[in-house]
Amino acid sequence: MTLMAEPAAGRFGDFGGRYVPESLVPACAELAAAFRDAWADKTFRDELDDLLAVYAGRPTPLTPARNLSGELGITLWLKREDLAHTGSHKINNVLGQALLARRLGRTRLIAETGAGQHGVATATAAALLGLTATIFMGARDIERQRLNVFRIQMLGAEVVPVTSGSRTLKDATNEAMRAWVADVDDAHFLLGSVGGPHPYPWMVREFQRVIGNEARSQAPSLPDAVVACVGGGSNAAGTFAGFVDTTARLIGVEAGGGAAMTGGAPGVVHGARSMVLQDAEGQVAEAESIAAGLDYPGVGPEHAHLGAIGRAEYRSVTDAEVVAAIHRLARSEGIICALESAHAVAWVLRAAGTAELPRGSRVLLTLSGRGDKDMVTLSEGAEA
Ligand SMILES: Cc1ncc(COP(=O)(O)O)c(C=O)c1O
Repeated sequence: MTLMAEPAAGRFGDFGGRYVPESLVPACAELAAAFRDAWADKTFRDELDDLLAVYAGRPTPLTPARNLSGELGITLWLKREDLAHTGSHKINNVLGQALLARRLGRTRLIAETGAGQHGVATATAAALLGLTATIFMGARDIERQRLNVFRIQMLGAEVVPVTSGSRTLKDATNEAMRAWVADVDDAHFLLGSVGGPHPYPWMVREFQRVIGNEARSQAPSLPDAVVACVGGGSNAAGTFAGFVDTTARLIGVEAGGGAAMTGGAPGVVHGARSMVLQDAEGQVAEAESIAAGLDYPGVGPEHAHLGAIGRAEYRSVTDAEVVAAIHRLARSEGIICALESAHAVAWVLRAAGTAELPRGSRVLLTLSGRGDKDMVTLSEGAEA
């Protein structure tokens, strides 16, 4: 199975598509054509690869988690996206899309952010390429991820608080899409995950594929299981892309309160048909998670498809397991990861030594980001 090709009509099996207001259809079509061209253009690819290397610090290392491996009776390798510039995998996609926006003659970037990592990455690329950036962020996330709000502002971007709904990522994405409709000729909507209308799920996965490609060549042997946290699903999609044609199990770990794959049903959110948490009338339900980046009721359509065909498996963990996992990783390996990434760690801690992940398993886990932004949340009583 290979995921190289553009999904026909933006569909991944029964999922995906382009469910947007008519005014956005030309912009989506133009973006798909531009990405297709750029991705086949050596000059574009070279410029992106160069930025990823000399600016973002790629390749990120694959670190053997020796202490935890010994404690758990498995072999655990960590793909260190926390060491990429700005502190998470978000920069991979942002640099790609920002170069594309410049190629399209756009002068302004519009983005949504939950944990703030995508907002920071977008503000960073805007500063680098001389673009302006407007970042929509839920008021609740502004409070709990305030370090990243300061970073975004320091980089010269504007943060627009969103006070509707649950005041989190879903609502920020709604507002960002509205702002895009209003400024579709000058602005590029720089979506931070593998959701949204075609071409975003495909394009963002391609920009994140670098994680999986690097990890595949860095791993000393083929892992039995490849594990990543899933919010919208971009770090997982990028990681899985490097292993989907192997026998490795692919395991995405969601937040218990945002488990669209295991607790949702097919529906449409933010322009794509996918798995969505919803009420009996099909209204999108509120998610609830300690991790702002996973506090989202949907998931990218490719995950819905990989789940439906049984190629990837999805699990969820609780906030309490996540907090315990962040502390355990810190004490065992000297790595403070993001609350989002700690979901993947929490599942490994739970599964290791059981039938889910027998002793002796080789596990490759993408550590999507670093935990600095979460010190406020963790110090305000979220004890292990
Ligand atoms: C560190 C980190 N990991 C994971 C995520 C979730 O996004 P995705 O599922 O698209 O990788 C976020 C989102 O904000 C994040 O900041």
